[in-house]
Amino acid sequence: MVRELAGGYELDDDSRRIDVDVVHRYISEESYWGKGRSHATVVASIEGSQRVVGVYHAGALIGFARAVTDRAAFAILLDVFVLSEHRGRGLGVELVREIVDNGPYRDLRWWLGTDDAQGLYAKFGFLELQLPAVAMQRAAQLGLPIR
Ligand SMILES: CC(C)(COP(=O)(O)OP(=O)(O)OC[C@H]1O[C@@H](n2cnc3c(N)ncnc32)[C@H](O)[C@@H]1OP(=O)(O)O)[C@@H](O)C(=O)NCCC(=O)NCCS
Repeated sequence: MVRELAGGYELDDDSRRIDVDVVHRYISEESYWGKGRSHATVVASIEGSQRVVGVYHAGALIGFARAVTDRAAFAILLDVFVLSEHRGRGLGVELVREIVDNGPYRDLRWWLGTDDAQGLYAKFGFLELQLPAVAMQRAAQLGLPIR
């Protein structure tokens, strides 16, 4: 799937086209959630995702998102970013629309975590959980071959 957007941008869900070096640099150096993530982990995370969407401008990757799913009950949206010089032009909205609403997993229960982009995801029906239950997490274990 390639979808052309205004301004010479395009979306593509071909994981072989992803520029892993750009994704790794952004996540490991600039993101607030993945600082220090290794190149090997970024490669493995892309290989292990069921859908990966890149945003491209003049052939270069400038945005990214990936989804992990069991293809039956749930999908998790991860590692969403648009490089800073391309923000504020609607690309983040189109990226989320593509991976959540246009893909084969649109009818599943979607999960994500965010510090401050609730307004972006609310456009696609994500609701903040008012949890009577407690969300829990087990941190990644040190000493794994990749982190
Ligand atoms: C979040 C991000 C992907 C949005 O990309 P973008 O191309 O600038 O977004 P858009 O131009 O499509 O606009 C996003 C829309 O969501 C809204 N929004 C809500 N919270 C936002 C936030 N924290 N950051 C950006 N937009 C936000 C914007 O107001 C805008 O709505 P509008 O069109 O009604 O004005 C981009 O700002 C980014 O990469 N941020 C740093 C990484 C990050 O926070 N990723 C999300 C982790 S959960």
